[in-house]
Amino acid sequence: MTQIAGTIMPADIRGQIMRDPTSSSTLPSLVVRMLEDLQVEPESKVLEIGTGTGYSTAVLCARLGEEYVTSIEYDEEVASRARTALGRRGMYPTLVSSDGLLGYAEGAPYDRVIATCGVCTVPAAWIEQTRPGGLILTTIGGWLGSSELARLTVHNDGTATGLLLSGQVSFMLARPHTPPALGLLPDLSEGKEREAIIGTDALNDWTSRFVMQLAAPHAQHLTMERDGHTEHVLVDVESGSWAALYEKDGRWIVRQDGPNAPWDAVEEQLGRWHAAGTPALEEFTVSVTPQGQTITW
Ligand SMILES: C[S@@+](CC[C@H](N)C(=O)[O-])C[C@H]1O[C@@H](n2cnc3c(N)ncnc32)[C@H](O)[C@@H]1O
Repeated sequence: MTQIAGTIMPADIRGQIMRDPTSSSTLPSLVVRMLEDLQVEPESKVLEIGTGTGYSTAVLCARLGEEYVTSIEYDEEVASRARTALGRRGMYPTLVSSDGLLGYAEGAPYDRVIATCGVCTVPAAWIEQTRPGGLILTTIGGWLGSSELARLTVHNDGTATGLLLSGQVSFMLARPHTPPALGLLPDLSEGKEREAIIGTDALNDWTSRFVMQLAAPHAQHLTMERDGHTEHVLVDVESGSWAALYEKDGRWIVRQDGPNAPWDAVEEQLGRWHAAGTPALEEFTVSVTPQGQTITW
């Protein structure tokens, strides 16, 4: 961990960490695995999103030469520390301090784009700035906390398709893709109640959680004590839709309200995934077109 809550350095912490990490050094073995997955070749022009400490940027420079490497970091303080660290190693790639979701058009087209922060949806700018045949490697995640690496090939028509890879790879979400603060919750006492077909145990499995995220992409999960029992709540603060589940006499009961009925959507999607034989994430395909992103199996 190299930064917490966008401002705090780990060395300044006394006691327990209560806020979320905002920058960290990627596990070196994961950096290498991702550079292999990215299939970098001599003279590949690479755009990296999430410079962080500069470690993965340094490995890219060592492999390709600094003239082939552009790296973007959202946080100016983190970017400046990475610049110093790379300079100390005599490495001067193009370092940009801005929102990497917009890419860096000045250096385009790139042969490869690699993100060491996660995204919920692959940004259009990355596809536009990658040459046809080029590859984009990123983790696709969501607000229920599941994610996986995806490798997409960019096509002549401006779309990109590919597969999820394996390993339950997870990165902190790109700052503009982090969930909004929960704030004041909707009134969870009203709502339509029924017996649930699927209980919240589905949240304990990485792949089924990924599938749930696809069904309810704006839902966040929390637990609360209510009327003497634990309730699992999925809430979409933007639309005001929510679902609350609790166990009663060995059965799951769901109560939900709002325009999207999140648990109906989750059960429908999980039902389709079960009917297909619970395929692994490596069997999921990702397609990104100007109309949006779809993930299917
Ligand atoms: C896990 S760290 C990257 C670690 C880095 N690869 C290394 O080896 O040290 C993720 C980084 O992504 C940065 N980040 C988050 N959102 C971003 C965005 N929209 N554009 C660019 N960088 C972003 C964070 O500030 C953080 O430094």
